[in-house]
Amino acid sequence: MNILVALHSWLRWILLILLLVSIVNSLSGFSGKKALSAGDKKIWLFTMITAHITLLIGLILLFFGHYGITKGVPEGLSVMKDATYRFYWVEHPVMMIIAIALITVGRGQAKKSIPDVTKYKKAFWFFLLALLVILAAIPWPFREIGRPLFPGM
Ligand code: HEM
Repeated sequence: MNILVALHSWLRWILLILLLVSIVNSLSGFSGKKALSAGDKKIWLFTMITAHITLLIGLILLFFGHYGITKGVPEGLSVMKDATYRFYWVEHPVMMIIAIALITVGRGQAKKSIPDVTKYKKAFWFFLLALLVILAAIPWPFREIGRPLFPGM
């Protein structure tokens, strides 16, 4: 399970980098009124795939990890009153699933029959919103439920 936690955590960096590149390329696409390029489409696709892999590992951790639902909660503890359980069972999964849905919808713009500049513009807003949600839902080390930035190093 530790290896999956580390993988899930490291994937955060790949996803953040890809999402940032997607935000920059969609902004430059719509401000420069460019035609949607194959390269930009590929970056959006990789961003979505990375998000979906992170989601898949996240779901495994949610059910079978350290705080896995299948393990239950310690005697006398209330999930919503305990900061760690509330975060890993509710806040983190719900916010991340919303963010991944936003990325998926953002990437889906590439396949729509709308002008390329509109694709870039809509994708930009979906990706930007997803980034903000992800940044808010990551267990950064300074938070109460904080985790390492680079596990294993
Ligand atoms: C954008 C997507 C996501 C990112 C960037 C992300 C990031 C992280 C990070 C950095 C950790 C801390 C890992 C550590 O302890 O070193 C973590 C833990 C965790 N995440 Fe995510 N996560 C994402 C999506 C999800 C989703 C969708 C779920 C559930 C459906 C999920 C469930 C969990 C669980 C259960 C843990 C605690 C793991 C454990 O200690 O056993 N994550 N996540």
